[in-house]
Amino acid sequence: MGAPQRERTIRINVAREKITVVGAGNVGATTAQRLVEAGCYDVVLLDIVDGIPQGKGLDLSQAYPLVGPLGKVEGTGDYKATAGSSVVIITSGVARKPGMTREQLLETNAKIVKSVVEQAIQVSPDAILLVVTNPLDVMTYVAYKTSKFPRQRVLGMAGVLDASRFRAFIAAELKVSAENVQTLVLGGHGDSMVPLIRYTTIAGVPLSEWLPPDRIEALVNRTRDGGAEIVALLKTASAYYAPSASIVTMVDAILQDSKKILPCAAMCCGEYGLNDVFIGVPVKLGCQGAEQIITLSLNAEEQAGLSKSAGLVKEILCGFGWMI
Ligand SMILES: NC(=O)c1ccc[n+]([C@@H]2O[C@H](COP(=O)([O-])OP(=O)(O)OC[C@H]3O[C@@H](n4cnc5c(N)ncnc54)[C@H](O)[C@@H]3O)[C@@H](O)[C@H]2O)c1
Repeated sequence: MGAPQRERTIRINVAREKITVVGAGNVGATTAQRLVEAGCYDVVLLDIVDGIPQGKGLDLSQAYPLVGPLGKVEGTGDYKATAGSSVVIITSGVARKPGMTREQLLETNAKIVKSVVEQAIQVSPDAILLVVTNPLDVMTYVAYKTSKFPRQRVLGMAGVLDASRFRAFIAAELKVSAENVQTLVLGGHGDSMVPLIRYTTIAGVPLSEWLPPDRIEALVNRTRDGGAEIVALLKTASAYYAPSASIVTMVDAILQDSKKILPCAAMCCGEYGLNDVFIGVPVKLGCQGAEQIITLSLNAEEQAGLSKSAGLVKEILCGFGWMI
């Protein structure tokens, strides 16, 4: 007997966030797979090549009986299908072809990113844009300028990947779980990245107490060349498993409003003494996007590395007329 039991209410959340992935190549399709299989997102996969997104979408949906419950997935070439997306992930672009200069690659990918952003934001005006196309920091700036979105809603993915690579190399060297390794990699994606050794710890203990300087330098160099090492092995493609996992880590932090601090390409407006440039900095991610750039105290060498990296990005933007 006793007091009557309160009736339990079971809430089933059937509304899933809609995410658009533009570019159904290696990175885009793998990202779509990870998102759909997470079960909490509906995904629209879009590509300019007719048949590819439709085919990959169909293939993904046929995994449902085996790996369900899945989110819905649709492959398309039509931006109408992407309407109302919470996040638009931009992986569309071309790889550098033989005979193509760096400037031509920039020009081509900038045109692609611009046209993708123009079409995507017409039907998803409240979306958060997550840019992946290389050269990353420059393309994120192109997306920002094209969209005229507030800076909180435009982000680039690179630092999560660079940090994940560094963590993996440290964990393998020390034979410890990668989960124990914490690090931050700031700066531009590529040669000018700035791994913060002082802020790298293993189970809370600084990296410098685990490894001598020459081993740390070797791991930093391997991280800096992490993308190239994979291209050299694959020959006709670049990395996509770790990049797609990095994208999903950022999407989860945004859509679950987790306030996770991750290194992302974000627009600096005075932070770290930098202005009007997208560069890798620690960012608190939540439902508003890049909710706060976390300002760490950097020593002179780290600050110089970050400023140099930002200077290189600005030089490229000025070089092809995107920045006045
Ligand atoms: N930021 C990072 O850390 C990171 C990591 C890996 C790859 N990338 C970059 O991501 C991009 C994609 O890499 P990938 O391996 O998937 O390349 P990929 O060649 O496999 O795929 C690119 C796709 O974009 C599509 N595309 C081209 N123009 C388009 C347009 N106007 N609209 C829609 N789709 C279009 C192509 O048809 C192709 O399917 C590249 O620029 C690559 O350098 C960045």
